[in-house]
Amino acid sequence: MKMRILNWLLLPIGLMAGCQNQEAAPTGAAKGIPGQAWWKEGIIYQIYPRSFKDSDGDGVGDLRGIIEKLDYIERLGVTMVWLNPIYASPNADNGYDISDYRAIMQEFGSMEDFDELLAGLHSRGIRFVMDVVVNHSSDEHEWFVQSRSSRDNPYRDYYHWWPAEKGKPNYRYSLFDPKGEAWKYDSLTDAYYLHYFAQKQPDLKWENPKVRQEVYDIMKFWAEKGVDGFRLDAFQYVSKDTTFPKLPEGYEKEVIKYYGMGPGLHGYLKEMNREVLSQYDVFVVSEGAGSSFEDAHSLVDADRNELQMAYHFEGMDVGNSLDGYTLAEFKSVYSRWDSAFAKKGWLSIFLANHDVPRMVSKFGDDRPAYRAASSKMLNTFILSMRGTPYCYYGDELGMTNIGFDSIQQYQDIAARNGYQKALSEGRDMEQFLKELKFLSRDNGRTPMQWDSSRHAGFTTGTPWLPVNENHAQINVAAQEESPNSCLNYFRQMAQLRKSHLFLTYGDYQLLLPADEQVYAYTRTLEGEGALVLLNFSAAEAAAPLDKLPGFEERPLINNYPGLQVDASFITLKPYQAVLLPLK
Ligand code: GLC
Repeated sequence: MKMRILNWLLLPIGLMAGCQNQEAAPTGAAKGIPGQAWWKEGIIYQIYPRSFKDSDGDGVGDLRGIIEKLDYIERLGVTMVWLNPIYASPNADNGYDISDYRAIMQEFGSMEDFDELLAGLHSRGIRFVMDVVVNHSSDEHEWFVQSRSSRDNPYRDYYHWWPAEKGKPNYRYSLFDPKGEAWKYDSLTDAYYLHYFAQKQPDLKWENPKVRQEVYDIMKFWAEKGVDGFRLDAFQYVSKDTTFPKLPEGYEKEVIKYYGMGPGLHGYLKEMNREVLSQYDVFVVSEGAGSSFEDAHSLVDADRNELQMAYHFEGMDVGNSLDGYTLAEFKSVYSRWDSAFAKKGWLSIFLANHDVPRMVSKFGDDRPAYRAASSKMLNTFILSMRGTPYCYYGDELGMTNIGFDSIQQYQDIAARNGYQKALSEGRDMEQFLKELKFLSRDNGRTPMQWDSSRHAGFTTGTPWLPVNENHAQINVAAQEESPNSCLNYFRQMAQLRKSHLFLTYGDYQLLLPADEQVYAYTRTLEGEGALVLLNFSAAEAAAPLDKLPGFEERPLINNYPGLQVDASFITLKPYQAVLLPLK
């Protein structure tokens, strides 16, 4: 099985109700479930800090803003929060270019603010996941400043340098480079350095044990502060073939194999586990799961002592086309991954993050008539599948793509530099902008919609990225008032997941595999379980009773006021989602 490169990267490169946490569920241990763990039973809420809440009017979200919203987060019923990077950074890639791993980005606040935020989360029973970006640093990090300065600097070997006298290094692709070139010539020492991402994001040389020790020390620094988990950014790329051979014909189909998942990776993870992870009650998730189920198992199986969880991109890659996607493909991807991990290993479930479009615009239907129902339906999916659910800020409201028309509106380096590259290659720019409008990362980064005021209550200043105009209708304040809102539905669904362990640990069985409208499955554990019916279409859909197991007619949850059950069919309304207890 092959997997595509990070889905959001495809476009620019052209390559390729009363829900307090105190009511938390019984633990798996209480039920004696093998392999139970708090991070399996958790619900992760991902916050893009730049866009959540601005407390000081500079137009950029910050830690004090998140502190102001802690009660909101608690009432969602989530049990973990993952923040995108908050370290000191020149922001070439919005914090994914770190210049000091032990300092907070000035725009976001101070270390005191961080400590207060962490304490505020912990006092509400919510754990904290730190983003760790160590495939690369910023070129403004002291290590790189030193490394660049001379060929015999002690930090020289912290990065991948190629001396110019050896000739031009073999081609490597860079995701954010306006020319797509990953080797950047530096006249200071007459050598090239490697950057898989932007020029300002030089790749760290993990083969150097000193680099690894620096990373473990950084992780310990944050673990000592009390963080509960780490998300390892772009981690599959840390181990590379450092001879940088010429890439063979057709390598594009197996990008990860040629760019990462190198021979050192498992050794590094075992070392990280020994040095850091095993010393604390923390969990680690990696972005990327290699190229196959075997790769993914080799990262996350418990007996390997490496990672606890990974996330793959195959599920999110469905739906990357402007022509939409078929439910058959969606079901097949999720069912295959589930069955490959049914006995061993653990994965994440998500439909959006900061690198992709809004969930409802991509997988649901963001037309006003269907937006709310389809958002609720998608949240039902995420929160009823096996794997730890990741819920992206704003998706609890059904926030939608902003859909920029002109390149000037974009802030994202991937969009801007991707545009430059496409232009220089003479591509069809109208088509390029059409695709960008749908797939751009900025779609998922617009400010949180708190209320209907001018900038949606996000800032009193000018937001760094415009607020979606539909905040007049889609916002927290309005949804708090309405018992049937997406927000209140999300809270109910989160509560349901926490109070029914079969939704975390239960077996998953796909039903009606060929149905083009309905995604139907069961989740069962020790004689208990539910039938999940999700209508992924804007038309009514009939699910034949003779193909379904026996169920109680009173739903555990339903995104419509009723459910039509006749002698032979359950008829689902457009985007209806329902969980029915199994008999
Ligand atoms: C990861 C992040 C993405 C970032 C890239 C480089 O894929 O999710 O936002 O741009 O790594 O750090």
